Amino acid sequence: MITGKYPSLRLRRTRKFNWSRRLVQENNLSSADLIYPIFLIEGKNRKLPIKSMPGVYRFTIDKLGMLISKVIKYKIPMVALFPSTPLNKKDKFGNEALNENNLICKATRFIKKRFKNEIGIMCDVALDPYTTHGHDGLLKNNYVLNDETIDILIKQSLLQAQMGCDVIAPSDMMDGRIGRIRKILDKNKYSDVQILSYAVKYASNFYGPFRDAVGSKKSLKGDKRNYQMDFSNSNESLREVALDIKEGADMVMVKPGLPYLDIIQKIKNNFRIPVLAYQVSGEYSLIKNGIKNKLISQNSVIESIMSFKRAGASAIVTYFALEIAKKLKF
Ligand code: PBG
Repeated sequence: MITGKYPSLRLRRTRKFNWSRRLVQENNLSSADLIYPIFLIEGKNRKLPIKSMPGVYRFTIDKLGMLISKVIKYKIPMVALFPSTPLNKKDKFGNEALNENNLICKATRFIKKRFKNEIGIMCDVALDPYTTHGHDGLLKNNYVLNDETIDILIKQSLLQAQMGCDVIAPSDMMDGRIGRIRKILDKNKYSDVQILSYAVKYASNFYGPFRDAVGSKKSLKGDKRNYQMDFSNSNESLREVALDIKEGADMVMVKPGLPYLDIIQKIKNNFRIPVLAYQVSGEYSLIKNGIKNKLISQNSVIESIMSFKRAGASAIVTYFALEIAKKLKF
């Protein structure tokens, strides 16, 4: 592979000028690579800050018109919706997930009615924003039940598709849910609705600020290690992805992002399918606070996102999406 040697070969030659660096640049970033997560709250005309995520807000649905217009103007292809469900609507079973007037359903209808297919909508499939115990599925003796949870998740998926969701994104890590979701969507004539499987989701310590944002942090009992992946494992991620592709996943997500670049690359090289990366809340807040405290420069945001492209990601879910798109001049 490597030809030539010093001093006739000097790799610094191509780095001397900006035009030359641009000429040999191997990866680039555009707003088409970004997915913007939006947190929703009930009520009217409110924009609530999230303490643990500086610069990120929770919006009421009537505020979405302006926000989504901006996202479209910045040429970001898709938004990911997350609800901050009021406590009095949570229960042991996550029933609110199946309410056609829950925050996600209302927001999806609103966006689709107003913006048609100008933007993609991605919805999380999991019960954690709706359960009092904060777990992604039904809990029995402190264990999250698999098949019983799937029975609910397929209903949640179908409901989201009926509301106009374009990309169903199961983030619950139950075994076998992709196949069953694909089946119920197809049976109900939603064969064009895509499935983005969070095939590789680690039981991570970087989700803290998100759980704060959706209000599941205080209520979460124990941890999620009996369904999310062990962060010591790598080969297991290939098995997860292989299964989900067989079951009908169109794209797969690796989550969190930065500590798992090796996994992104491995999956891309093995399967050659669209691999998405999620730069999660903890990663966001660390970088954001680093910039705020002048420990690192603003450019570290682009550097972190470019690393996902280098690893082989097709797109990145990031709370920085709007500010990056603005900086890139869309
Ligand atoms: C849960 C879910 C989580 C995130 C997205 N969906 C957290 C969890 O598994 O507890 C985390 C996202 C982030 O930290 O930014 N279904």
